[in-house]
Amino acid sequence: MTEAVPSPALPADLATVADNLTPVLGRYFERSWSHGEGHRLFDTSGTAYLDFANGIAVTALGHHHPRVTAAIHGQVDRLIGPTGAMGYAEPVVRLASMLTATLPDPIDSVMFLNSGSEAIDGALKLARRVTGRPGILAFRGGFHGRTFGATSVTTSSLNYRTGYEPLLPSVYFAPYPAAYPDFDSDEERASEACLATFASLLTTVIAPSMIGSVLIEPVRGEGGYNPAPASFLQGLRRICDEHGILLIADEVQTGFARTGRMWGFEHAGITPDVVVLAKAIANGLPLSAIATSRALMDRWGKSAHGSTYGGNPVACAAGVAVLETIADEGLVENAAVRGAELRTGLARIAAEEPRIGDIRGPGLMIGVEFVKDRDTREPDGATAKAAIARAADLGLLLLTCGTSGQTIRWIPPIDVTAAEISEAVEIFGETLRTV
Ligand SMILES: Cc1ncc(COP(=O)(O)O)c(C=O)c1O
Repeated sequence: MTEAVPSPALPADLATVADNLTPVLGRYFERSWSHGEGHRLFDTSGTAYLDFANGIAVTALGHHHPRVTAAIHGQVDRLIGPTGAMGYAEPVVRLASMLTATLPDPIDSVMFLNSGSEAIDGALKLARRVTGRPGILAFRGGFHGRTFGATSVTTSSLNYRTGYEPLLPSVYFAPYPAAYPDFDSDEERASEACLATFASLLTTVIAPSMIGSVLIEPVRGEGGYNPAPASFLQGLRRICDEHGILLIADEVQTGFARTGRMWGFEHAGITPDVVVLAKAIANGLPLSAIATSRALMDRWGKSAHGSTYGGNPVACAAGVAVLETIADEGLVENAAVRGAELRTGLARIAAEEPRIGDIRGPGLMIGVEFVKDRDTREPDGATAKAAIARAADLGLLLLTCGTSGQTIRWIPPIDVTAAEISEAVEIFGETLRTV
């Protein structure tokens, strides 16, 4: 995450007490937000911004969505709690059923939790307990969250790990198959080379019989918006099958139509053993989930994991509205079509802009990487940072990612319109003319 971008911020009566909020939390902007309406976020002075950041891929249906808001109101007035340990509540059961209907067989069982990190931790615990194996294989540059377990498998920034050792033991990292900049954008070369390195880890570093899980983001998010080639995910699936290792897909950022498919792993035609969901699941209310087969959940065992707040009925009611909206409004298709339009618009800009080294990513999860020089591909975080600050001044919210903050990530709402895509591309063109 980049450092805060200074700008006029809070109303006078809050400006000083804002110091009571932790400075530890990284903030992209020093603006203060008043309300959201559709795809616009409004700051406290009334200025509207086209929100292509969505709280980092969370409010994927935008703000104050009528259907989601109505579902939340309806449930708040009926029952806020109890949650899981007390028994069953209708929206919780319904959301589990609707989620599993979107996932491939044999995934038919859901545990609800509260955040992506917590669900990653749970999935790692599941894999250890079910397989009886300690080893976890994750990928360099990956981001899986901030709890100790999730931190242990996160390498997108040294700052996320520094000072926290010892982290979980028996975690090993393989290279993520990022076609750019290391493989001249050649996905097949990236896939072959990284599968070879992965296989060599199993013969030189840790025996496959010691590995319980392989954890991967189908599109590396925080680490730079790099899609894993289909052949790489297929190769991982083969290796996991061969050795009885559980393949865990971290769909926290890629899920819920973001990539132009309901789930990122669908691009590779594979079925993970465990899928971790969060962010867009309830369009802003805290909720996450671990989805897997009933057989694996049974082997995990009664009370092997749990959560007081996980599966809050209000959050689950929002989740039901999210899934209904995605289905009724054809938003998987919309993400694919609008994403193609966005890429075309960005490519037009890049053709005239030597500071852009690469544009990549499926659907509405597009990374624009800035470089100091197209030949050396040296990352240029400073320009990316200046560009999101300038874009915000011009009324468009974008975020950065990547180990040097060199990639601008485009995460528009999944129900974005063609007119909004054009507007954003126009603002981005103007941004780069003035940065
Ligand atoms: C891929 C991925 N996994 C896990 C997480 C952690 O989720 P949370 O911040 O809800 O704990 C994130 C958050 O950005 C993420 O992008």
